[in-house]
Amino acid sequence: MKILVTGGAGFIGSHTVKLMVEKGHQITIYDSLVKGHREAVKETANCQFVKACLSDKELLNHTFKKYNFDAVIHFAGYIETGESMIHPAKFFQNNIVNGLNLLDAMVKNNVQKIVFSSSAAVYKAKETLLTENDEKEPASVYGDTKLIFESILKWYDQIHGIKFAALRYFNAAGAAYGLGEAHEPETHLIPLILQAALGQRENISLFGTNYPTKDGTCVRDYVHVVDLAEAHLLALEKLGEESKIYNIGTGQGYSVKEVIDIVKKITGKDFLVVKSGRRAGDPPFLVANSDKIKKELGWQPQHGIKDIIKSAWEWHRNNPAGFRRQNGK
Ligand code: UFG
Repeated sequence: MKILVTGGAGFIGSHTVKLMVEKGHQITIYDSLVKGHREAVKETANCQFVKACLSDKELLNHTFKKYNFDAVIHFAGYIETGESMIHPAKFFQNNIVNGLNLLDAMVKNNVQKIVFSSSAAVYKAKETLLTENDEKEPASVYGDTKLIFESILKWYDQIHGIKFAALRYFNAAGAAYGLGEAHEPETHLIPLILQAALGQRENISLFGTNYPTKDGTCVRDYVHVVDLAEAHLLALEKLGEESKIYNIGTGQGYSVKEVIDIVKKITGKDFLVVKSGRRAGDPPFLVANSDKIKKELGWQPQHGIKDIIKSAWEWHRNNPAGFRRQNGK
């Protein structure tokens, strides 16, 4: 397939692009590099790169006309839960308004398939595994932008016939293909702990120690980025007449304290852990029931928390500066 991948220079996007190219798809990455990394993009005969923002409707339309896509994978968007509670407009603008530009370009150019990066952040948190039909009540603006966009997709399906697979990721982590996770600023737990293990940070903060969980810290379901990439491949290749929503997680929950302990064990490094206040917008417990995608698409996560941390540690050790900033960023 000829596929437009928005946000293909980002963490999950770049890993998915590698897998898609490996499987013989023809990829065009569309990324503004505001968050993505030029170094994560390898241009080849099967992978083109367009440095542009989804706010640029003209260039977006031109890109659709030029490449004649069969499908879109839409990763582009802001993802920091905490920041979304400080700058909500930024999130609505990028995740909703710019996303609408993409859908309208699809309609105009008769592209009828999209895989969308949704999130576990759409759910009302609960202490048992979350299934797709569970109650939705985002605790953050970020989570709400994902829920709103899912709703927009349902209408575009009904009105324009666009078929979608919305993948509700739980916590993506890990590394592969010589790529890794490097956000600026970094807010995600595993890369931050690894920076502490490398001595790049003085300590790691526990954001909240009195949550109603096993040890008082938040519990998350960490899923390897390669397992996520595989889910995109399956979701797109098997997308038919019916739009779908799937959870993508492992069903195993780990608390912040547990993740820190596993990192200490795997890296053999010790570092300071500091108790700190809660971060706004953090639900206590988010763990997936992913039976639906397993049953319908045959997806099966191949990696657990140890693989995730080992692979991320290897990348961080080999790339202590993350991705270098480059001209044109
Ligand atoms: N945390 C700390 N200290 C830190 C950083 C994080 O205690 O220095 C805690 C957070 O409070 C949270 C947990 O570690 O409880 C995980 O935090 P992350 O920022 O790594 O991830 P989130 O769970 O906030 O969010 C991530 C993605 C979202 C996605 C969500 C779904 O960033 O895109 O998972 O679960 F929607």
